[in-house]
Amino acid sequence: MSETLIEVVDNAGIVRLTINRPKALNALNSNVLAELERVLVELEGRDDLRAVLITGAGEKAFVAGADIGEMRDKTPEQARAFGRQALATFKRLETLPVPTVALVNGFCLGGGCELALACDWAVASDNALFGQPEVLLGVIPGFGGTQRLPRRVGPAMALDLCTTGRKIDAAEALRIGLVNRVMAQSELEAYGEELTQQLGGNGPQAVRAAKQAIHDGLEQDLDSALALETALFAFCFAGDEQKEGMSAFVEKRKPSF
Ligand code: HXC
Repeated sequence: MSETLIEVVDNAGIVRLTINRPKALNALNSNVLAELERVLVELEGRDDLRAVLITGAGEKAFVAGADIGEMRDKTPEQARAFGRQALATFKRLETLPVPTVALVNGFCLGGGCELALACDWAVASDNALFGQPEVLLGVIPGFGGTQRLPRRVGPAMALDLCTTGRKIDAAEALRIGLVNRVMAQSELEAYGEELTQQLGGNGPQAVRAAKQAIHDGLEQDLDSALALETALFAFCFAGDEQKEGMSAFVEKRKPSF
């Protein structure tokens, strides 16, 4: 039987995905990308989905990049197809309707950093290292890094990272806004669990609306985006969640969503 490249653990709609190629530091080859896409397509159709966490197997790496061995002999046409395959897969991840968390447990380089950038959250262990080292290999980021990195950390720092190829530690990644939190490695797993439970325990319709307002709003001019916010805010009042959330507050009890 072939190795499971993406391990899936589903706990009542809180789904944990583990990229499972630890001997190659979870490098993304076309098989891993195809399997990730297959799993994401299944998740897209799930009404009970609450949160998705993605991490890398082993102690050393989240993902050390796209698979360099596989890329080495590619023609420009094959490279284009590889880039498109990853972009399509990462787009599915980015547009899942629920919060997505990259739990970065070590090296987070090249395509690995680009994978983390396609998630809403990045939580890193204190020994994690980040970077876009593609120029050291004679290429540029091809899985979205030149576009999502400047949107996350600003163009100056994105240019710095993409043209020097230097690696930054978790503290610097936190300072520039590439990650949301840094945890001791021994506490990372427990924090990932706590965070996804917290995200999954909030009103699911409201959480989805918040994600949609922010993601879709960023693609629009401010007035259109503010109108989108108003529409989604009003939409929240159409379901049971808002009644339950506000009644629970007034009745001094915990809401049950
Ligand atoms: C394929 C990789 C790999 C990668 C590590 N490995 N990274 N294989 N692709 N990106 C493999 C190594 O070949 C080795 O296999 C095993 O994982 C362990 O790695 P070591 O190098 O022995 O570990 P260490 O000395 O601890 O160094 C860790 C490291 C280094 C600093 C992360 O492996 C490294 O620099 N990796 C490449 C990082 C990188 O350049 N990433 C960007 C790729 S380009 P063996 O069989 O020897 O044990 C990219 C572009 C995306 O992502 C867009 C494309 C369209």
